[in-house]
Amino acid sequence: MPAEPAPSDHGTAQPPLPGRDAAPSAVIAAPPLSCRIDLPPAGRPLSIEAIFGAPGPLEVDVGCGKGRFLLAMARRHPDVMFLGIEKRRKRIEKVDRKACREGLTNIRLLLTEAACLIEELMPPLSARAVYIFFPDPWPKRRHHRRRLFSAAFIDALHRTLSGEGRLHLATDDEDYYLAIRQLFAADRRFVDVAAYQPADDERTEFETIFLKLGRPIHRCSFAKVAVVDPT
Ligand SMILES: C[S@@+](CC[C@H](N)C(=O)[O-])C[C@H]1O[C@@H](n2cnc3c(N)ncnc32)[C@H](O)[C@@H]1O
Repeated sequence: MPAEPAPSDHGTAQPPLPGRDAAPSAVIAAPPLSCRIDLPPAGRPLSIEAIFGAPGPLEVDVGCGKGRFLLAMARRHPDVMFLGIEKRRKRIEKVDRKACREGLTNIRLLLTEAACLIEELMPPLSARAVYIFFPDPWPKRRHHRRRLFSAAFIDALHRTLSGEGRLHLATDDEDYYLAIRQLFAADRRFVDVAAYQPADDERTEFETIFLKLGRPIHRCSFAKVAVVDPT
């Protein structure tokens, strides 16, 4: 008897992404029933290829909120795989409904904590870009330890990003922005590059709100330095 095809070790069955050499029938993928994926078994990283059904460049939106940016990027770049993660179930459900309605086959969504994703679940060298737009700023000094960006988080980002992979950040909170810049400035494994400028349809829900309020938006991007000179 022929062996059953091995199920992916986690995730919802999804139509494969159209690849460069895909046959015409594979390009017209059926709309997904859900873009949500499950957490892998404890202690195991995500299998990006199993989740998307094909290898390809991966970009990650951490704290994707209601998904305006993620959806715009997935529409604009059908050959790129986008993973959106959020800690709020309702937001993930909302993004999932929108992605399915549009038949976007290159989005996967995971309900999880950002630090857990980057520090434990992402395979090394797996993402060419990580977007973190309007992370919770925790402005009170006694709450700073709850902020996402720390030395440990930046270590994990460095491990997760592929060679010359980029982190893109936007925030309305100047104090948090300066603190993040300081962390990266002290880290020779990253170099400051031109900040990512979103197209109008890529502006996140929070950015839209802050722009209407006339709040300044601070942006920066950092590229991983492929090889650090030991001298
Ligand atoms: C200020 S909102 C920004 C949402 C979206 N990026 C935008 O710009 O519209 C921060 C988002 O990150 C999510 N979030 C905050 N802390 C998180 C964490 N530790 N792990 C995962 N998601 C988190 C929140 O639920 C919220 O949706």
